[in-house]
Amino acid sequence: MNKPPILGVIFDLDGVIISTDECHYLAWNRMAGEEGIPFTRADNERLRGVSRMDSLAIVLERASRAYTTAEKDAMASRKNAYYVELINRLTKEDLLPGALQALHLLKEMGIKFAIGSSSKNTPLLLKRIELSHAFDAVADGNHITHSKPNPEVFLLAAKKMGLSPENCLVVEDADAGIEAAAAGGMMSMGVGYASAHPSADFRAKSLADANFKAILWRDAS
Ligand code: BG6
Ligand code: MG
Repeated sequence: MNKPPILGVIFDLDGVIISTDECHYLAWNRMAGEEGIPFTRADNERLRGVSRMDSLAIVLERASRAYTTAEKDAMASRKNAYYVELINRLTKEDLLPGALQALHLLKEMGIKFAIGSSSKNTPLLLKRIELSHAFDAVADGNHITHSKPNPEVFLLAAKKMGLSPENCLVVEDADAGIEAAAAGGMMSMGVGYASAHPSADFRAKSLADANFKAILWRDAS
């Protein structure tokens, strides 16, 4: 059976285009520390691709008491204020290796590309790295109600590009993102942490190692 052609690529932002893991870690660690909740780098690994409120729920698994909804909202806002303080220092020098080259190559090949991110800070991050106008479409945490592994953000990105899901390739560093791509009927490339995910159709250590030409021109067999 012929494989559908890839006409668009949907990039996750955090951990694919720009590395924000350390900023998230420092912000959660500061907030949790103030509350007396233990939070380690290993805990931070579990937050990859997960929405802010779902991340908070994971952080609170180690809390010694229950928190009210109002307290949780305040904690999430406080963490975000710490996070924004940190990402406001990022520049285009913080783009991950191979990211710009990948976008240039896709443009040259006439392939559309979009952002599909759970982050509500997507507009700020894109501004910091000077890519606010680089993508054909942006779908992010401000536009969705269900976070990855629900495919909502990727389906929206595909729709905004005017493409069917089966013609889209998702590039992700989070297991939840690879699962979201599969749930949305899209192909996926796992990079970094998600390169080990068994459901990824393609894998690369980073975008610098991703061979988009080979993937886009793959045998229709
Ligand atoms: C994802 C990150 O891209 O965005 C998660 O991988 C993060 O770690 C999520 O929790 C939500 O981000 P924000 O910026 O809306 O708090
Ligand atoms: Mg990510």
